[in-house]
Amino acid sequence: MEITFKEVDYTYQPNTPFEHKALKGVSFHIPKGSFTAIIGHTGSGKSTLIQQFNGLLRPTKGTAKIGEFTLSNEKNNQIKELRKKVGMVFQYPEHQLFEETVKKDILFGPKNFGFKMDEVEKKLPKILEDVGLDESLLERSPFELSGGQMRRTAIAGVMLMEPELLVLDEPTAGLDPYGKRQVMELFSHLHQKRDQTTVLVTHDMEDAFKYADQIMVLEDGKVNLIDHPKALYTKKEHLQKLGLDLPEQFHCMDYIERQLGVTFDEPTLSAETIAGLLSNQLKGGDTQ
Ligand SMILES: Nc1ncnc2c1ncn2[C@@H]1O[C@H](COP(=O)(O)OP(=O)(O)OP(=O)(O)O)[C@@H](O)[C@H]1O
Ligand SMILES: [Mg+2]
Repeated sequence: MEITFKEVDYTYQPNTPFEHKALKGVSFHIPKGSFTAIIGHTGSGKSTLIQQFNGLLRPTKGTAKIGEFTLSNEKNNQIKELRKKVGMVFQYPEHQLFEETVKKDILFGPKNFGFKMDEVEKKLPKILEDVGLDESLLERSPFELSGGQMRRTAIAGVMLMEPELLVLDEPTAGLDPYGKRQVMELFSHLHQKRDQTTVLVTHDMEDAFKYADQIMVLEDGKVNLIDHPKALYTKKEHLQKLGLDLPEQFHCMDYIERQLGVTFDEPTLSAETIAGLLSNQLKGGDTQ
């Protein structure tokens, strides 16, 4: 699904002493089928922004176009249709779970949106395997699960609906390094296999640069930067000024450039490519 924001403002609790403008004139475009990572400091408005994607929050001002749906300050009667197509894995999975058993929880979304349940149930074992959730947990209460298992439960429920737009708000928080890698690889695989648009909110620069084809930087409720990961290599000082981490590969290339007095024509994002370039350089060849 294509997403276009035009001058979107979002204000929490307007006209109260707690009024807070969390989005300020936000405009951007996310092409259909792309993988976009949203990064930015805590409180910069990332979660507020992505909650506009399924109409959980609506712009106070401006318009947000999500596929064929247009959201603005005015009520939209097609919200259910929109939510059927937009899968959202929230930042705090425990807020997403509420049924008596893990199985009921996973099946809640598809059931609520009128999916054919016999077909959905057939897909369940494969999804459980994909997200790394043991079938023996299905009859347990979701509140007895570990943070990582809760997250996998929430992810399984969303995956079963095969959304056109998958929105992930720090989906790997609370997972151990192996679990993080497994879940990110799953998202990446699904993104490539299905005709899906993916938006990932993350504090992990390595993930942003590894998986995304577009990176958006939010700063104090505004879009500070939106570009291809490679293009951000040339803006690394800017990212550092914002206090954002750079991926390890950028540091590595910087180091090689300084040590060997060379300039790579093009930034590279994988350790393998850096090793190849370095090996060429040492053999007296070209950097490309
Ligand atoms: N319900 C609310 N009422 C009032 N202000 C809120 C509410 N929710 C969030 N805010 C404020 O809006 C701003 C943006 O919050 P948001 O949760 O979107 O940030 P974030 O970028 O997702 O941060 P994090 O990385 O910590 O998840 C913050 O200043 C926050 O305090
Ligand atoms: Mg957040």
